[in-house]
Amino acid sequence: MVTVNRNYLKLPGSYLFSTIAKKVNIFQEENPQASVIRLGIGDVTQPLAPAIIDSLHRSVDEMGHRETFRGYAPDLGYDFLRDAIAKNDYRDRGCDISADEIFVSDGAKSDSGNIQEIFGTDNKVAVCDPVYPVYVDTNVMAGRTGAYSQEKGCFDGVIYMPCTADNGFMPEFPEEVPDLIYLCFPNNPTGGAITKERLQEWVDYANRYGCVIIYDAAYEAYISQEGIPHSIYECEGARTCAIELRSFSKNAGFTGVRLGFTVVPKDLVRDGVQLHRLWARRHGTKFNGAPYIVQRAGESVYSPEGKQQLAQQVAYYMRNARVIHDGLQDAGYSVYGGVDAPYIWLAVPNGMSSWEFFDHLLSQAHVVGTPGSGFGANGEGYFRLTAFSTYENTVEAVERMKKM
Ligand code: MLT
Repeated sequence: MVTVNRNYLKLPGSYLFSTIAKKVNIFQEENPQASVIRLGIGDVTQPLAPAIIDSLHRSVDEMGHRETFRGYAPDLGYDFLRDAIAKNDYRDRGCDISADEIFVSDGAKSDSGNIQEIFGTDNKVAVCDPVYPVYVDTNVMAGRTGAYSQEKGCFDGVIYMPCTADNGFMPEFPEEVPDLIYLCFPNNPTGGAITKERLQEWVDYANRYGCVIIYDAAYEAYISQEGIPHSIYECEGARTCAIELRSFSKNAGFTGVRLGFTVVPKDLVRDGVQLHRLWARRHGTKFNGAPYIVQRAGESVYSPEGKQQLAQQVAYYMRNARVIHDGLQDAGYSVYGGVDAPYIWLAVPNGMSSWEFFDHLLSQAHVVGTPGSGFGANGEGYFRLTAFSTYENTVEAVERMKKM
């Protein structure tokens, strides 16, 4: 008799952003005249930069000629891209990471969901609360957690590290020492950024207790302040305790193109095994490489023109972040984030729950955001807005919210 992976049945409802999309579609069907502004999912709106488009055109043409046609990509990524990443994202920042420690993939969402596979199911997982739901849900699917408590809004067997206004939305060391620690900075959803000193403390902690930090740095391009690390490998000792996830979605607008990478240093050994070896085995078995044309597009992100054009694109979104942050602050909201991250985290007014505020905002202002409780129990009473819309829609959304 066929049985199913019953761990999936522990997951309440559907994936957060699918639930939101369904709700918005229903609202739009019932209110066809409403011009809905979407500041919910962190999806980009600006077209690919010219340097990327040129690179795509060139590589598409290569695929049309026998001499330059490419079939399967190397399963860990083309050297031209891994070399560019190692140089620009790591060595130029003083981080000791080599090209063969970089695993090119189809994006950080897949990697952040898949990385748990190389660890035993008896590992204890710690996450920030609120948290990007993929880290928790994939550990639930793998059987690394107990049941979901509707009342507490969390899973048994997971160590939640509350990130609240009281601690500046920064996780504190948990009472129970975890095995796997997920950290995301700049943070999704709160928009908070960790200092190098504080991250160093986490690295020291992980090395002391033998934990592994899974560090999601998908939003590093949005860092604007000094003293905020772009990579965990800026910290001393991170090579022996940290895996880093990176994305091209937010710095280069690849949400629909799909490209990311994971760094697993060869010095990272647990249970007598090099994790690099396991991730390479997993990648080789389950992944046939990101497309050649997409990897060429990724390479162009590091060209002088690409860098300059993408800096402008990031600045465009960060202007939106300021519009939301300052506009809502002026309107009396308590707002956080938006300085080193494209997310603004606001306290829901008038004692509403975050889903009540979602409905209120959608029905009154026709603006979509993400309810904080969708990211965890400590997200209740908060709401996330993204800076990834167009400037015009961002201004309009804030104007509508001010009139509510
Ligand atoms: C988000 O809105 O949290 C992100 O866009 C989700 C993702 O990157 O997968």
